[in-house]
Amino acid sequence: MIKHFVNLADFSAEQLRNLLTRALADKELFRAGSLPASLKRKTLAMIFDKPSLRTRVSFDTAMTHLGGRAINLAPQEIGIGKREAVRDVARVLARMCDGIMARTFSHDLIEQLARWSSVPVINGLTDYSHPCQAMADVMTIEEKLGELAGRTLAFIGDGNNVARSLAVACEKFGMKFILATPSGYELEDDFTSQMDPASFSQTNDPAEAVHGADVLYTDTWISMGQEDERKKRMSDFSGFTISGELLSGAPAGAIVLHCLPAYRDYEITDEVFEAHAETIFEQAENRLHFQRTLLNVLIGEGGVA
Ligand code: CP
Ligand code: NVA
Repeated sequence: MIKHFVNLADFSAEQLRNLLTRALADKELFRAGSLPASLKRKTLAMIFDKPSLRTRVSFDTAMTHLGGRAINLAPQEIGIGKREAVRDVARVLARMCDGIMARTFSHDLIEQLARWSSVPVINGLTDYSHPCQAMADVMTIEEKLGELAGRTLAFIGDGNNVARSLAVACEKFGMKFILATPSGYELEDDFTSQMDPASFSQTNDPAEAVHGADVLYTDTWISMGQEDERKKRMSDFSGFTISGELLSGAPAGAIVLHCLPAYRDYEITDEVFEAHAETIFEQAENRLHFQRTLLNVLIGEGGVA
């Protein structure tokens, strides 16, 4: 039984497949009005060291759907690791709440929370990874394109947290993941050496990446915490915009995804974004559906079997 949801790599392909299949089924049940309120009187503590729209609203709403509630803890309120030691915050929350979701800068902080918490800890984004996003992404791809195995996803942009989690998710679901970054923004050797070369590859040529891709994906060039690098990044990422021209080099029927928030006419043109908005907002909605199932499994059933 895996109690926490911190790293996708901790899970087997079968465990992730089961979670995904269940999330898709629960989405249907929810829409039909027949998903049970299985977390009555349960509380999720949400720690946000960075801003959020989707993660905050989706976890809070998911708890409401399940009959429980969520408490938002902003940095100025709890000062995790500053006002109070991480391991003490973990032990206090675990005494009062039934689960902890955290969005932090350092990945080590969420690992520490998991080490010290007797209730499930969920990674709501760190500088290193964003596993809930990646699961909502593969959920969306399966809904839009069917069978995941054998598909190719081209990630155009920064070798960042979102790219890392998506690369792992693609490998687990039998997909190919191609990352196209400017030179110097590739994923690091410590990560890539753990990836299967049959699934994972990197290039500095966006056109090469999209040729043969079923899915084009992008994210901001400047992640939260990298604001000081703005000027350099804006210049370095020139040529890595998902534009109509780049998209025309992909097979007909390729879909476009973005984890959001989007910066139009930087990582994606307004025209491409709006043409694919229906898929992108379904992807955003799927954060809610995947995470509601995850909360049910972790809090309601004690973990991922
Ligand atoms: N995609 C995502 O995690 O969005 P937020 O930063 O708004 O939570
Ligand atoms: N890479 C982005 C993702 C935002 C959801 C960031 O970390 O800011």
